[in-house]
Amino acid sequence: MLPPSFIELKDVYKKFYIYNKEFEVLKGINLEIQKGDIFGIVGFSGAGKSTLIRCINRLEIISSGTIRIGKYEINKLSKKELSLYRQKIGIIFQHFNLLDSRTVFGNVAFPLEVAKKSKKEIQERVSEILELVDIADKKDFYPGQLSGGQKQRAGIARALANNPDILLSDEATSALDPVSQLSVLDLLKDINKKLGLTIILITHSLDVIRHACNNMAVLENGIIVEKGSVKEIFVNPKSDTAKVFIKINTDLSISKYVEGDVI
Ligand SMILES: Nc1ncnc2c1ncn2[C@@H]1O[C@H](COP(=O)(O)OP(=O)(O)OP(=O)(O)O)[C@@H](O)[C@H]1O
Ligand SMILES: [Mg+2]
Repeated sequence: MLPPSFIELKDVYKKFYIYNKEFEVLKGINLEIQKGDIFGIVGFSGAGKSTLIRCINRLEIISSGTIRIGKYEINKLSKKELSLYRQKIGIIFQHFNLLDSRTVFGNVAFPLEVAKKSKKEIQERVSEILELVDIADKKDFYPGQLSGGQKQRAGIARALANNPDILLSDEATSALDPVSQLSVLDLLKDINKKLGLTIILITHSLDVIRHACNNMAVLENGIIVEKGSVKEIFVNPKSDTAKVFIKINTDLSISKYVEGDVI
């Protein structure tokens, strides 16, 4: 028997209303993501990727359908359960979203302060996590004194501070040069292996998917038009979006940076 999906979306719809006009952005999403997977979601701009991830984090409330994480249906959580749930989900953003007035240490400590951890616990956890993402030597630096890749590592450290079960990454590597991008992706793979974390990677880049993900879905105009293993979809893309992405990806290939991992 297959293991139960860790993250399960069933018939998820999301509508926005602007001046009483309805915009349907997610149009019946069905998706299962297994615990410990690195799952990629690819799609053109405006397809609904960020909206989908914001619904999983319950920053947005879905209009209908269900989202389950393990045995919890997230739209039925009480306020208190929701705040605990959010601690179990780390999110990393394209533009890092670090607090400029805090050092790297202060940024990573922030979610732990919100979770009311003791000073000693915060000290220990932040040091441990900065070691893991390999920027322990930058702990007293402010974001303005870091490179893009180092800021991204600080963002990942902050997302991991509360020992989340799930890490959501919304275009987290697209602002980086190809080499830093690969090193951050390798870090995510390493974290996935070491901590058994489930990772959802939202991206425009098939190179990102190919390098880091096991399974993927293609989102087109609020609908999942294709899902399966990365290998399957690369070898035999069925949707127009996947075909176009693979064509662009082949034309602009940066696969020379990917050692031994080309499918
Ligand atoms: N709060 C909102 N109110 C109204 N419409 C919204 C809101 N958030 C997103 N949308 C609309 O939903 C659609 C999908 O947006 P979303 O940000 O999810 O796309 P995306 O796939 O992440 O795009 P990108 O690749 O450019 O980041 C867009 O047409 C956008 O205008
Ligand atoms: Mg987006």
